[in-house]
Amino acid sequence: TGVWQHDNIALALWLLFTGECERIETRKTMDKRNTDVNQLETIKQQKIIEELRKSYKTEEERSGKKKTYHIVTFGCQMNSRDSEKISGILKQIGYVETDSEDADFVLYNTCTVRENANNKVYGHLGYAKKLKENRPGMLIALCGCMMQEPEAVENIKKKYRFVDIIFGTHNIFKLAELLQTRLLSDRVVIDLWKDTDMIVEDLPSDRKFSFKTGVNIMYGCNNFCSYCIVPYVRGRERSRNPEDIIAEVKALAADGVVEIMLLGQNVNSYGKNLTNPISFAQLLKEIEKIDGIERIRFMTSHPKDLSQELIDVMKDSTKICRHLHLPLQSGSTRLLKIMNRRYTKESYLDLVERIRTAMPDISLTTDIIVGFPGETEEDFLETMDVVRKVGYESAFTFLYSKRTGTPAAAMENQVEETVAKERFDRLLKLVQECSAKAAGREEHTVQKVLVEEVNAQDPTLLTGRLSNNLLVHFEGDKGLIGKIVEVYLEESKGFYYMGRLLEK
Ligand code: 5AD
Ligand code: SF4
Repeated sequence: TGVWQHDNIALALWLLFTGECERIETRKTMDKRNTDVNQLETIKQQKIIEELRKSYKTEEERSGKKKTYHIVTFGCQMNSRDSEKISGILKQIGYVETDSEDADFVLYNTCTVRENANNKVYGHLGYAKKLKENRPGMLIALCGCMMQEPEAVENIKKKYRFVDIIFGTHNIFKLAELLQTRLLSDRVVIDLWKDTDMIVEDLPSDRKFSFKTGVNIMYGCNNFCSYCIVPYVRGRERSRNPEDIIAEVKALAADGVVEIMLLGQNVNSYGKNLTNPISFAQLLKEIEKIDGIERIRFMTSHPKDLSQELIDVMKDSTKICRHLHLPLQSGSTRLLKIMNRRYTKESYLDLVERIRTAMPDISLTTDIIVGFPGETEEDFLETMDVVRKVGYESAFTFLYSKRTGTPAAAMENQVEETVAKERFDRLLKLVQECSAKAAGREEHTVQKVLVEEVNAQDPTLLTGRLSNNLLVHFEGDKGLIGKIVEVYLEESKGFYYMGRLLEK
């Protein structure tokens, strides 16, 4: 309890002296896996959610209206999953979700992996300011990776004074408490932690799709690739206990989930910091045993840590999907070293060879950065060479973006924008050629498909996903959504298929 008393005193002092409710700190528990502290936190947050639920109910009865919320999510799957957690807490309090930013509570879950991600947030904030002027009592919150950057927060405090709550990536579980503080204090609430080793379990969580969801297996990253801001904004690597993960997946299966995506910045180093270390491959084997779960995906794999054990487990599995996202970043061994990626062009190609030999039908996708400091035409041609050799199903290509605080940002030999852009266009063309070549491999075969939704363009069609992550559109009843069905792939359209549902 000492921890919380200390917190409250700090909070009161901030309120007194700054006029803001603000804390920036590193939260470390004494014991690395101090489950007692984590459990106490769960109980505390559940209590606050309950208090808020009661007062929102009273307010709802008085006004005859439910309060609405809207979350704008930027960035990766990790952020999408975080938004589902935010959503879960808000629904429990009594909010209902609405599909526009004209809501009682708007939250921006930000990303900062590239500069343009930050710019998008400022654009939305300009819009939110106008909405707030016409909607008294509207609350605006900012959270996510960009809030872990002190310069960005300073800028927001100065120029966007209408923001009500700011929190980061480490303390999403505190949302109800921060909201309560804001409602009581009428001042901006800023709660940012530099890092943490806390993992707070058992708080409410929502799902965008009833039949599939992400499951965090670890948080943070220890790799410090020299261009990447993630280790600074998501903290050090920490794995959830396998028992907690398995209990969550079992509960999801009981609730109708058939597909899960295991999430971590580098899933292949899962389990290393646990008291009883287990490998990612071993965790997968345990999850496979869970009845009801029919498909398992995971993201992201670092090529340096992808083990032969994992390849073997995938090969023998009927549930693990035939798709691997294997970020290359660059095909130049020289540049990979400066990027601190800890593999070479040759070892990457050897890994791909081993994966393809074990699973010839696997689909491979990747991330590539163009214009990293010092990238020469020769380096770039090495990247093109790997892309050609691997023949990715698809690739996300990025122009290098300078992130303050990362080693690469301080490198003097930054590549000129026009040069980088010209290379980027060449790479994109090659990637598209590879995708076109790879697509169509399954044409005229029968595949298992998870039916995901009614096709947005043509409502007579359903859209489903193959094990290898490609989409197929076919005629069928929307009652099939969330089910796994067999579809004959009649025609490849490059990035997707047109198919015919097979009757059971
Ligand atoms: N500039 C451009 N792309 C980046 N990525 C990460 N940091 C940067 C950066 N500074 C890309 C990497 C990573 C993906 C999520 O984003 O390719 O795999
Ligand atoms: Fe960033 Fe590298 Fe960690 Fe991925 S592995 S999040 S690219 S530092």
